[in-house]
Amino acid sequence: MTFAAITGWGKCMPPAVLSNADLSTFLETSDEWITSRTGMRERRVSHVSAIEMSTVASARALACAGLTADDVDLIIYGGVSNDELVPNSASGVQVALGATRAASIDLNTACTSFAYGLATATAMIRTGMVRNVIVIGVELISRYMDWSNRNVAVLFGDGAAAVVLQPTEREEGLLGSVLGCDAEARASLRVRGFGCVYSGRDISFGDTIWDFDGAVIFKRAVHAMAESSVRVLKECGMTADDVDLVVPHQANLRIIESVAKYAGVPMEKVMLTVQKYGNMSAATVPVALVEALEEGRVTPGCRILIPAFGGGLTYCALLVRWGERITPLGLSDRELPPCTQTALEMVNEVRGRQDPHGRSSAGLMAPRFAESSR
Ligand code: ACO
Repeated sequence: MTFAAITGWGKCMPPAVLSNADLSTFLETSDEWITSRTGMRERRVSHVSAIEMSTVASARALACAGLTADDVDLIIYGGVSNDELVPNSASGVQVALGATRAASIDLNTACTSFAYGLATATAMIRTGMVRNVIVIGVELISRYMDWSNRNVAVLFGDGAAAVVLQPTEREEGLLGSVLGCDAEARASLRVRGFGCVYSGRDISFGDTIWDFDGAVIFKRAVHAMAESSVRVLKECGMTADDVDLVVPHQANLRIIESVAKYAGVPMEKVMLTVQKYGNMSAATVPVALVEALEEGRVTPGCRILIPAFGGGLTYCALLVRWGERITPLGLSDRELPPCTQTALEMVNEVRGRQDPHGRSSAGLMAPRFAESSR
């Protein structure tokens, strides 16, 4: 029987840090409110496009797996902050990597996009359709954020990470998955105007309005992640005691604590990044996974539970069995270009294009990185 092992991993975190104190310079909020309600202290703001972050993360994951761009059969780009819809973003990563043989898919299930990508890639490898797959989780939210809306502006951050999946006869990779969508509540999280870096003409950049019911999302997220975690463990013939590590979607520390409690897993087994990166939507789970590897929290053969939820409201719980190797086979020298601005300066630049209601002025130019992200 064929399985799909995770053989490579890499992250790309933009260096500029936006603190709670920075947010308090233009929003009626405080470090105390944000920390006590969400667990977040800081988040990153990217100076480059989502495609550039994804390319660096993917190059690192490929080197880690000991593969080159020529080996790649498929790139799955998981995320919602696409610079453009046509052409898709996966093809932008493909051309930047030089992965000329690959097929390229964008996959949008909001914050669960990486986890759904992992499930999709696993199924395709197990049927023999493809062999070497890059799955990316990426988000560049800062350029589309409504910075006048404190209900959402404090919650999100930018980042990217990727993994490489390859076929194996050993029982590794995704052992079980529960995927679902609480579509009745789809109106509780809607971002109008997301994903338009159309420079000039009549379409403005970053013109988003966030319909966001945090309390509804909170309750449904806890229920969906906890219930699907219990279900996937049962389907795999395991209990919470068999879980070595939980790598959850990180939208709020209190959501994570509630899910861990309901699923019966102690917080010591939960990987947390929410305090330093906020909610990076689709990038959250893979970045946390890569950091768990870097911190030695992933051990050979360990079982990892991945509960996640996102707009839709999509949800899932995956159970992964790690392989024997926990160190990279190689390293990539791909780096982001230097960042010359502070996070607050970049945010203020976006704010300067938005009117007080969070609507940007029509016809303003897209950010400088738009041209380099083809
Ligand atoms: N600073 C100060 N006050 C704020 C802020 C802020 N940044 N944001 C909201 N408030 C105020 C509100 O105006 C409201 O004031 P009011 O009571 O006078 O009307 C009050 O704080 C809201 O307080 P609570 O309802 O007690 O806030 P709560 O503890 O529920 O926390 C939060 C709100 C953090 C949004 C929470 O509901 C949450 O985490 N929800 C789910 C997370 C989520 O939706 N994440 C994004 C989803 S996307 C994804 O990952 C799929």
